[in-house]
Amino acid sequence: MLFRVISTVHLVLWVISCVSTLDEEPFLTKAKELMSKTPLIDGHNDLPWQLRKQFNNELNEVDLHKLNTTHTNIDKIKRGLLGAQFWAAFVHCDTQYKDAVRQTLEQIDVIHRMCQKYPDTFMFATSSQDITEAFRMKKTASLIGVEGGHSIDSSLGTLRTMYHLGVRYLTLTHSCNTPWVDNWLVDTGSEPPQHNGLSSFGKQVILEMNRLGMMIDLAHVSVAVMNQVLDLSKAPVIFSHSSAYSICPSKRNVPDDVLLRVNKTGGIVMVNFYNDYVTCSKTAKLSDVADHFDYIKKVAGAGSVGFGGDYDGVTRVPEGLEDVSKVPSLVAELLRRGWTEEEVNAALGNNLLRVMREVEKGNPTDLNGTNPDDLPIPYDEVKSSCRTSYGYTSAGVLPSLSTLALLLTLVLQACITLSVL
Ligand SMILES: *[C@@H]1O[C@H](CO)[C@@H](O)[C@H](O)[C@H]1NC(C)=O
Ligand SMILES: *[C@@H]1O[C@H](CO)[C@@H](O)[C@H](O)[C@H]1NC(C)=O
Ligand SMILES: *[C@@H]1O[C@H](CO)[C@@H](O)[C@H](O)[C@H]1NC(C)=O
Ligand SMILES: [Zn+2]
Repeated sequence: MLFRVISTVHLVLWVISCVSTLDEEPFLTKAKELMSKTPLIDGHNDLPWQLRKQFNNELNEVDLHKLNTTHTNIDKIKRGLLGAQFWAAFVHCDTQYKDAVRQTLEQIDVIHRMCQKYPDTFMFATSSQDITEAFRMKKTASLIGVEGGHSIDSSLGTLRTMYHLGVRYLTLTHSCNTPWVDNWLVDTGSEPPQHNGLSSFGKQVILEMNRLGMMIDLAHVSVAVMNQVLDLSKAPVIFSHSSAYSICPSKRNVPDDVLLRVNKTGGIVMVNFYNDYVTCSKTAKLSDVADHFDYIKKVAGAGSVGFGGDYDGVTRVPEGLEDVSKVPSLVAELLRRGWTEEEVNAALGNNLLRVMREVEKGNPTDLNGTNPDDLPIPYDEVKSSCRTSYGYTSAGVLPSLSTLALLLTLVLQACITLSVL
């Protein structure tokens, strides 16, 4: 009798546990299993900005294990199974024409220092191969993306130097126009267009990034810029943290016609989790973010989508995606919605790896491919009281010297001709 009661209780418990496992766990378990084999590569995280904002980049004063005023810390990274992160080297637009370059270098420095301070967690990475290698070593590959063209101060030399420091994407604008490219606020009407897309120098920047093998990030640019870059670039592009315009019509999101072009050119849109870009309101849920994944998959294919959480760059994140530890739940939601393993793996990391490998080829087919572009932006386009004109002045003198030489030659030739006659 007693035995029968116990076994009935066991049976009931067994049934309950089966039902609850079927309800939640299998998808999360499956998600974690997939994430142990394919790295989750996130396109944009602003922890470095929080290090400046909260600690003036005094990393010695920070314990990234205990930090609890951010979406990102080491424990959250581990629980979130973050395989690779593009850390944003971001400085605000009001540094433009002032100390943007210095402050950007300091953000690049703090990312390097973070990797040095926590070598068990992070591995500094500059290539698709590094990402794979770090993942194999169970570390979070740490890459750098510079967010905002103002950070290069209209200088290809600065762009190249940042590449040498490990920068592997440049977001062409943040929330301001630069002397060579228009930003997304132009499309909201709150800023006037300056170039109707890219200036001639802006086109040089695109081709030089192609040549270097640096990814072009079209988050934050105007739609005109998106289309011009898609026309011009010889390599696929990324949107490091943008969502779908048709789901939430914010000008920071990507319209359908551009999604189609991203598909055709083999690029990637990495979905932003910021409530205001997910639902166009102050609140959002994890399922709202999954809607963007579903939508981009429907329009541009599972080969065109990725993760670009924008953690620590935004103030409002969805219920269920409160910090970087929660991403596996989103992956589980995609599985629950019928995404195949292959589609999930694509979104997790394979798409970004494909784009990066393509970009890394540089531009060897171009006859000019190995030759750095050293034509500077015209001085008129950057003239200001904070900028000197060294180099430009001698460049200005040289043509007149050569004109003089030409005149002399002509006169001499005339004399010779006359004397012959
Ligand atoms: C956050 O960390 C600080 C400093 O380590 C600690 O004093 C505080 O209690 C923590 N707050 C929470 C909510 O855990
Ligand atoms: C682009 O779309 C086509 C047709 O829908 C699809 O077969 C292809 O896989 C997509 N490419 C990518 C990279 O998603
Ligand atoms: C090389 O650069 C010149 C000048 O910018 C351009 O006209 C030419 O088309 C380029 N050559 C190739 C093969 O792209
Ligand atoms: Zn941003």
